[in-house]
Formats: sequence, structure tokens, C-alpha cells
Amino acid sequence: MNFELETLDLNGAAKVKCDALIVLISTSFKPGKDNLSMLVAQALKAGDLESKSGKALVLYRPTGPACTRAVLAHVGEGSANEVIKAVKAAVLAVKAGNVKKLVICFATLPQEAPLRAAVIAAAEASYVFTTTKSKPEGRVIQRVVIGVSNSSGFKLVFDRAVAAVAGIEFAKEWANRPANHATPARLADAARSLAKLANIKCEVLGPKQVEKLGMGAFMAVAQGSEEPLRFIVLRYDGALKSAAPTVLVGKGITFDSGGISIKPAADMDEMKFDMSGAASVLGVFLALAQLKPAINVIGLIPSCENLLDGRSVKPGDVVTSMSGQTIEILNTDAEGRLVLCDALTYAERFKPRAVVDIATLTGACVIALGGVRSGLFSADDELAAALVSAGESSLDLCWRLPLDDDYAEGLKTSFADVANVAGRAGGAITAAKFLQRFTEKFPWAHLDIAGTAWKSGTAKGATGRPVALLLEYLLTLAK
Ligand code: BES
Ligand code: MN
Ligand code: ZN
Repeated sequence: MNFELETLDLNGAAKVKCDALIVLISTSFKPGKDNLSMLVAQALKAGDLESKSGKALVLYRPTGPACTRAVLAHVGEGSANEVIKAVKAAVLAVKAGNVKKLVICFATLPQEAPLRAAVIAAAEASYVFTTTKSKPEGRVIQRVVIGVSNSSGFKLVFDRAVAAVAGIEFAKEWANRPANHATPARLADAARSLAKLANIKCEVLGPKQVEKLGMGAFMAVAQGSEEPLRFIVLRYDGALKSAAPTVLVGKGITFDSGGISIKPAADMDEMKFDMSGAASVLGVFLALAQLKPAINVIGLIPSCENLLDGRSVKPGDVVTSMSGQTIEILNTDAEGRLVLCDALTYAERFKPRAVVDIATLTGACVIALGGVRSGLFSADDELAAALVSAGESSLDLCWRLPLDDDYAEGLKTSFADVANVAGRAGGAITAAKFLQRFTEKFPWAHLDIAGTAWKSGTAKGATGRPVALLLEYLLTLAK
């Protein structure tokens, strides 16, 4: 899908030949003398267009405008959230038709955030996953023109929104792929394909190299699968070599059966999404290559399957992590923290300014925060505040949860330095406390995206979160 930004008032928008024209009307709308304004004014007066976001009025071949379909959509006061609702409703109203070129026109000049929201919402409303269909019926909408009465000043926010969409869709694509189409090796190929882009390099380690590094925790998870593990190292070099990088670590479990501590059968298919953290890292790198900000970023992805086998790691097994700490694996389903802890230790070699890990880590986080906000954990107030604020401005929200040392009590064991699980209480926090043991050398934050990375039910699919949040955070570092 291609996005363009144009200077268009309603008079101009009416002259554009397109398959559908979405007119976004806010409460501050002042109708001009043009045809389209009149139409809007009439619809408002007649009560056919409610001044509430999410309602759309579709007109087929209206007289006057050059578009085949016009959709009048109210955005209320015009906030980013209202624009998202309106654009989604409007795109939904026409996307079943043969709409290839779509114009979305703001009837009144928006702020930056609503403009950004329009781009992201148009992409989201028209996204289709086709990779595993025999007769793919992909997205019909090919071109989206965003029209504002004066486009100067919007270029930067527009370009960022378009890059965010590219990153989000790349993340969705990989997260949505079933585990047999997204093995650790294929995920590594996806990362390698990014290395063709500007400023990106990729290195992939296999079982032998990972063993040499001493990643005993990561290897323990991988040992029950026939698919060999991959440790992916991505590098985006946008600043001087001397500038300390930010490291993103993405959980890349391509399928999580739970291992010997096997999960119940219901909804187990959703554990193909257990590499959504990894997918978000890939998406961020794609967006970085488009925007070329002056920062350095490293992406680390420990990727493997968590399966049952005669060779699987067993409850009670003790393994030695790359850090030297021994871990008693009391529950093989708490595998995310095992692959992440070795990746966190590996991150030390980059002397990072900050490390952020992104993981579909705990069902407990889904219970705590649902699908609205990702869980955020950090002992570093400044880093936490920066991530919260990046989430607010990108509408990819997160919520900080505590890390008091008392939460680590349950991880104590007589048989190793630490156990990989505590009790059921505070499960998202105890998981974070486990990870924190491996982050002494750098400022660190952990995003638990178990509730936000995908949707279940009829709308089942990856969300591409938290690509927008991470990108926003990284771009503020470039300033
Ligand atoms: N990938 C899961 C977390 C998960 C569960 C994400 C449900 C989304 C929905 C993770 O590996 C896991 O299994 N965690 C366990 C930890 C427990 C054994 C301490 C969990 O949350 O049940
Ligand atoms: Mn698990
Ligand atoms: Zn998992």
C-alpha cells in the first residue's frame, strides 16, 4: 500500500478521481461554498451524519465529486483516537468494493497526532494476511492519498507514520505466519533480508556458536525440537561508531507448546505468536532503514521452538546460563525468560545506553492489563518515563508495573542460584524479576506484550505492537 500526502481542501478533494473519498469532519467544520461542503452541511442538518466518531455515511456516485464513492465520517472533536475510529469505520464501509485508490481528506486542518492516526488506521483496516492461502485475495486498496488543506509542516510526521506502517506490517506478517512457515531458520532469513536495506547488517548464529558462548539456558529450551535454534544479531548504524547503541531483545519462540510442562490443547495454536517480540524487532529495523535516524541500534533475537521430546529439558533440570548463574527449570513452560536471559547477557558486549526486551512473556500480564496496555518494567525511572511517553504519543500504550525485590522471594531454590518460576501470584512481575538478574551492566526495561501482540477470536491476528512505541522511543533518542 502506497501513501501520499497532498494539499487538498474539500474543493480540491472533490476534483480528485478516485474509487473512494473519505471526508473527515470535525465539530469545528465550517462549510465552504463548494459542492462537497454543501453535501456535508446537508447531511449534518438532516441528522444523517451524527457528530460522533465511528459513524459513516456512504454515497455512491454522488453528483459533483469525481470520486466513485464518498464516505462522510465524523471525527467528533478530532482527537487521534476519534480519527482512528472514524477511518476504520469508513474503510470498512467501502473495502468490500473495488477500491484501489482511496483519498482521505481532513475537512479541517488536523494536529499531527490525528494525521498520523489516519495513516495507521487506514493500513490496519485494510490489512489482510495471505501468505498461507492457496488463492490469495490480498488488499484491494493500493494507493492512499492523505489530504489536508495545507500539507507543509506535516512531512516529517507523515513519513514517520508511513515507516511505522511498514514496520507494523512486517511484524504482523511474521507473527501471523504459522510455526511451520516461521521456523527459527526462516525468521533468520527474514532478518537477513533486512540487511539489504540502508545501514543494516545481520549476523546469524547457530547451535555450535551458541554452545560456544555458553548459552545453557537458551539451549535447554531448544533441545526438545528438531528445528535448530538461531540467535539473530541485527545492527542499525545511523550514528558514529562511538555512540552507544540501544539494544532491543525480542523473544523468538516460534512455537510454545509448554514443553514437558505442556499447555492445555485449547487455543494452543495461538502460541505460534510467541515470537511476536522478535517480529516487532524486525519491524522496527525495517522502519529504521526507511527513516535513517542518527542513532545506533542492535537487535537480538534468540529463536527456537519449545516442544516435547525424549530429549526435552525436564522439570527439575538445572542449567548454567551464559552469565554463569545456574537455573533450576521448575516449569518448562516458563521458557521465554530462559532464552531472554542469555540474550541479555550477550547484550553486555555492546556497552549499551539502554536495553529493552520485548516478550510475550506471561499469561499473568494478560490478566493484569488485558489487551489495551503492554506491561512495562524498569528500575530506571528515566527510561520507564521515556517508554511510557513514547507509548502515549504513538497510541501504543504501556503501563509500568513494580519491581520490588520482595517479589523475587519465590524464585529462591535450594538446587540452583535461581528457579525459573515463582508461585502464581504476581506472575508478570516475578518473570521480570528473573530477567532483572541478568541486567546489572546496563539500564534495562522489559515490555510484556502477551496481551497486546495479537488478538484472539474472530479477529485473530497479530497487531504489530509494540513497533510504533519502540520506533517513537528510538526517534526521540535521535534528537
Ligand atoms: N508464551 C507464554 C506466555 C503467554 C501465555 C502469552 C498466554 C500469551 C498468552 C509463556 O511462555 C508462558 O507459558 N508463561 C507461563 C509462565 C508460567 C509457567 C510461570 C504462563 O504465563 O502461564
Ligand atoms: Mn511458555
Ligand atoms: Zn512462551
